[in-house]
Amino acid sequence: MLKKILCSLAMPAALLAFAVPAMANVPPPPVNQILGIPDGVFNNLVEANCRGCHEDSTVVNPGTIPDRHHLLVGATIPDPTAAPAGTPGSAYECLSCHQLVWNDQTFSYSFVSFRDCLLCHEQQAGQASVHHLTAKALSNDCKACHGPIDNPGDGHYIPTYAPSLVTPQTGLGTGTNGEGGCAFCHNAGVDTVSGFTVFNNATTHHSTGLGILPDKCQLCHDVHAPAGTEIRQCEACHGVNSLHNIQVDSDANGIDPGAETAYYGHIGNQDDCWGCHGFTALSAPYSGPVIPDIASLSASTITAGFATQLTISGVAFTNVVQGPLGPIEVTSTVVLEAADGTQTVLTPDSISEDTMVVMVPATMAAGNYAVTAVKGGSISNSVNLAILPAVKITAASCTSGTVSISGSGFSQYVNAEGSGTSVSLPGAMADCSVTIWTDTRIVAQCGSCDTSISVDSVFGDATGAVTVNNIITKKPRRR
Ligand code: HEC
Ligand code: HEC
Ligand code: HEC
Ligand code: HEC
Ligand code: HEC
Ligand code: HEC
Ligand code: HEC
Ligand code: HEC
Repeated sequence: MLKKILCSLAMPAALLAFAVPAMANVPPPPVNQILGIPDGVFNNLVEANCRGCHEDSTVVNPGTIPDRHHLLVGATIPDPTAAPAGTPGSAYECLSCHQLVWNDQTFSYSFVSFRDCLLCHEQQAGQASVHHLTAKALSNDCKACHGPIDNPGDGHYIPTYAPSLVTPQTGLGTGTNGEGGCAFCHNAGVDTVSGFTVFNNATTHHSTGLGILPDKCQLCHDVHAPAGTEIRQCEACHGVNSLHNIQVDSDANGIDPGAETAYYGHIGNQDDCWGCHGFTALSAPYSGPVIPDIASLSASTITAGFATQLTISGVAFTNVVQGPLGPIEVTSTVVLEAADGTQTVLTPDSISEDTMVVMVPATMAAGNYAVTAVKGGSISNSVNLAILPAVKITAASCTSGTVSISGSGFSQYVNAEGSGTSVSLPGAMADCSVTIWTDTRIVAQCGSCDTSISVDSVFGDATGAVTVNNIITKKPRRR
């Protein structure tokens, strides 16, 4: 059984009135503020705030403020130092801290104020807090003051295996509600128990002032880290082992990993594991756009010359990836590739994870097209869309039962019963007999003429008006 984490830092009682949680931030964010330092900003403090923590023996131990200073006499002065008259490397003496000034009025020496902490301890208002301008913090010894973390470079274990769906993210994760990253629980909000304003992780870390020193950025950020492995730099301090050992006793009967109420820590409940390790299968963040897959088209053949709405069904037409500034939804376009390789890119009128509705323009030439969904660099399977020529009769004439038809989309004739290709007079029992059939012209013997003619081609059928030339009724000229 794990022991309850003992943080070297407890709650500053003077800043927060705090009680054992009758209420709790469940589900977060923000998380409870039971462990460690409240997730706040501490770079605009005044003396009273310092004393709030440093004169409360439940927060800062050991010793009173005067004694802690005086115990330093004889020790070596670090660099940097808060001692107003101290030289780093030499030993503290009374006058390193207590400076005497000559007073013209009283003709005597008096002490420069030595009560206001901020006269000696540097804070950069709004930028850096006193603690993080100390020699310990600047030498990356974070553990000197912070319990539940590791020090960068102390040799603790950081995984090097390839990232996968369960790799935690630094911000929100890819789960439906943001599970899978620290910010799913640790995010800005108001702690319902203390009323304390909780800040987001970027603010709590940057407001320490460690970030104002340019060479400190890489303590927490590796700009060259492969996508999806950003958390590994955080593991310089939040190592696997330290993260898996942070837990609050939710039910006052000892810490029982897996059997606590969710959201009281990192290992109390299955939901806590999911909070850091969660994901949705369709949104592998490290691989960017998930490969889309087309299952079906609402029509696999459409007719050239008409704008046609096509509904494409499948999966992963959209997914969410973690961008540098937050989650980004990536969406697919529809690409129609003709036999000669020419591509037409169409933007869907509407898109969801499993459905795209796209308008195929009237201008698309007849032919076979490979339809794919393309999302970033990810290309789906291809399905075929046949754009059929429109079967059209533009003119027809009939002389002595021979019908001449011009038009388009006739394709080819197959001289066989039931071939689906034929020419016929309206209401006629038998088809005409075809003598010429090209894509644009048909000549056929129909025995007689009519004012209308029907063509049945592989691409469909069409009926057109016929100009009848009544040559047969003319009297032959006598010689
Ligand atoms: C001298 C003690 C001390 C050292 C060393 C120290 N800190 Fe802190 N840290 C504090 C105290 C006290 C606070 C709360 C008050 C403040 O921010 O100044 C704090 C606050 C923080 C916070 C915000 C806390 C929260 O829960 O939101 C972060 C992040 C942090 N420190 C990071 C670091 C890192 C990183 C290092 C090492 C490079 C470090 N600290 C070294 C004392 C220290
Ligand atoms: C939120 C509580 C809190 C507040 C507010 C706070 N401190 Fe601290 N401080 C701590 C804790 C906790 C430590 C680390 C444990 C220790 O040294 O006792 C610490 C450590 C220090 C140290 C030791 C640095 C070292 O090198 O070991 C100094 C100096 C210090 N604080 C000065 C200040 C001053 C000045 C202020 C006001 C501007 C202040 N603190 C406000 C909690 C606080
Ligand atoms: C590291 C800095 C430092 C050194 C060195 C130091 N002092 Fe102090 N001293 C302080 C501070 C800070 C206070 C104020 C503490 C407070 O306000 O609670 C203080 C307070 C005092 C007080 C007032 C006592 C009180 O309870 O308020 C006396 C007296 C004093 N110092 C004498 C000395 C003498 C004598 C020496 C050398 C032997 C010395 N100090 C060395 C920082 C120092
Ligand atoms: C007159 C200058 C001075 C004043 C005023 C002062 N300090 Fe310090 N303090 C120092 C010096 C010098 C050190 C030793 C660290 C260094 O050299 O930077 C120190 C060290 C500390 C330490 C760490 C002691 C240790 O355990 O090593 C704490 C905690 C601290 N100060 C808190 C405070 C608080 C809180 C106040 C205000 C009530 C305050 N100081 C006022 C000069 C001062
Ligand atoms: C499932 C929710 C959840 C997720 C996700 C989560 N935490 Fe926590 N974490 C908590 C809770 C609850 C606490 C206890 C807070 C308290 O009561 O003070 C906590 C405490 C901590 C603490 C102890 C110090 C403090 O300031 O409270 C650290 C450090 C921490 N988490 C780091 C992380 C990091 C790093 C990640 C992302 C890798 C992360 N957490 C993700 C719920 C979560
Ligand atoms: C002590 C650790 C720490 C240091 C040092 C630090 N950062 Fe951050 N930074 C964080 C954390 C934690 C986040 C929040 C990460 C997240 O939510 O994905 C963050 C977020 C960011 C972001 C995302 C935007 C935002 O603010 O949310 C940028 C950009 C950034 N940091 C730049 C920097 C730069 C530049 C430096 C150096 C000047 C720096 N950081 C130093 C911890 C740190
Ligand atoms: C150089 C050490 C260091 C690095 C690297 C670091 N942190 Fe922290 N982090 C801290 C310290 C110290 C605390 C405060 C723990 C406490 O309350 O005592 C903290 C606290 C947290 C917490 C708990 C909430 C809070 O603000 O206290 C979260 C979440 C967190 N860090 C996320 C991150 C993320 C995400 C990254 C990477 C972008 C990161 N940290 C990198 C030192 C670090
Ligand atoms: C606060 C966030 C957080 C929580 C909560 C959390 N983990 Fe982890 N876990 C991590 C991180 C970070 C890693 C390292 C991942 C990486 O770098 O690829 C990790 C790694 C692991 C590993 C691989 C260990 C190794 O040595 O490589 C296992 C197994 C694991 N976690 C299981 C769990 C289980 C089970 C739970 C719930 C009881 C849980 N984790 C809760 C953050 C968390």
